[in-house]
Amino acid sequence: MSDTYLEDIYFKNYRNLKEANISFSKNINLITGNNANGKTNLLEAIYYSIYKKSFRKNTKDNLIFSQLDEEKYFILKTNFFKFGSKFNHSMKIDENEKLIYVNNQKSKKLENIKSIPINPYDCHTFFSNKKNRRDLFDSFISDIDKDYKIALRDFNKALRSRNVLLSKFFGPKEHFEKQIKVYDQLISKNAKILLNKRYNFVEKLNPLLCKTFKNIFREPMDLKIVYESSLPNDSSEEDIFNFYQKNLDKDRIMKTTKRGIHLDDFNILINNNYCHEYGSVGQQKISFLSLLFSYVGYLETVEKITPILLIDDISGELDSLCLDNLLKYLEIKRIQVFITTANQEFANKINSILGSKQYVVEKGVVTEI
Ligand SMILES: Nc1ncnc2c1ncn2[C@@H]1O[C@H](COP(=O)(O)OP(=O)(O)O)[C@@H](O)[C@H]1O
Ligand SMILES: [Mg+2]
Repeated sequence: MSDTYLEDIYFKNYRNLKEANISFSKNINLITGNNANGKTNLLEAIYYSIYKKSFRKNTKDNLIFSQLDEEKYFILKTNFFKFGSKFNHSMKIDENEKLIYVNNQKSKKLENIKSIPINPYDCHTFFSNKKNRRDLFDSFISDIDKDYKIALRDFNKALRSRNVLLSKFFGPKEHFEKQIKVYDQLISKNAKILLNKRYNFVEKLNPLLCKTFKNIFREPMDLKIVYESSLPNDSSEEDIFNFYQKNLDKDRIMKTTKRGIHLDDFNILINNNYCHEYGSVGQQKISFLSLLFSYVGYLETVEKITPILLIDDISGELDSLCLDNLLKYLEIKRIQVFITTANQEFANKINSILGSKQYVVEKGVVTEI
């Protein structure tokens, strides 16, 4: 049995989802329905209940059901189980206010549950530039390591201040250099934490990544993540400080910090070639999915956390052999999965899995079948 799972959800006015109370399987929940009927919205509502934010990038004010004049809010109520204990989240969100309750008490902080959205469309974002890759890894590590999250926040703050100074400073050189030294000390202290943790994370993720690629996607090639940093893993705080100071003259001319770990990259290699240059579109997709599934494996084996998986529209992206392997993988995992598809053949296969439940979404109405 999955040790963390969503038992049920009540929603009202969440995008096109009107009002319903739906209970779920601890194992696989299949969400079917034609396109643009609300399947992804249901996954998003679940994600929102866990993190009080969306997994979609451009959401701004679009989350409240738009065809209402009076009720300009949405409500999400959820019951979760975690290691045998039950708790609930309840939220009422309008344009001005987020009212959040945890176990019926007003609260700012939600219960700590992990949910991983798996969406093949994010693959393009990931391979298109290194900032997106870095952001994904930063979020992977921040999500499981508070010290990393704090170091990242403090590093970015110091870097922003450094860049403001580089772009705006007039006045005596000594004042400038003294102030930059203060920032570089903060930068190097936090960069050391980030560097170590990034190198370690990638080292632990790699064996899982290769295994996932081979087991689920039956690829004989080797898949590997490399952390490409401007600084080596064994850099001391002093090394990092000297690195930033050494580049100061150039940074001053350019009026910004042109080198450093804020520009580092995480790359996927297929047989030692860059996946985004060498891999076919299909290989890029399964490499990216392998990365996400290996993170799930990391959470389970290293962190002892069972995440809830939200898998969106994967069936159009993979051939039937890969889909069969993926289903086998999901079937034996003790993990709660929500998986959407508009593909009937794939839906039938999932449906035959013991303990699975099926829902159909039609014009925002969700029904268990
Ligand atoms: N705030 C909103 N109010 C009403 N409908 C919305 C809102 N936001 C999105 N929609 C509608 O939701 C539908 C898309 O739902 P989605 O879950 O992405 O579909 P799919 O079933 O293809 O995954 C579209 O018809 C869109 O117009
Ligand atoms: Mg969708």
